[in-house]
Amino acid sequence: MFKVNLDKEKCIGCGTCVAICPGNYEMGKDGKAFAVKEEIMDLGGNRMAEENCPVVAISIRPIAEKKEDLMVQGEN
Ligand code: F3S
Repeated sequence: MFKVNLDKEKCIGCGTCVAICPGNYEMGKDGKAFAVKEEIMDLGGNRMAEENCPVVAISIRPIAEKKEDLMVQGEN
């Protein structure tokens, strides 16, 4: 799974993410984009949206599905 973070402070409302990945980005009434789903199973166009945001407002990082996945090998 992945966690999508869209920093509204950084977003300038250019709409690139919405154009690239309309399945997960929409424009809000405030003129800033937001992620429809912040936790996603598949990256789909999300990575492209992240890479093409001109102000780097989108960051996507993997999140562990199970608690065990978070453990560093050799820790248990
Ligand atoms: Fe905003 Fe970046 Fe999307 S500026 S509208 S988050 S591509």
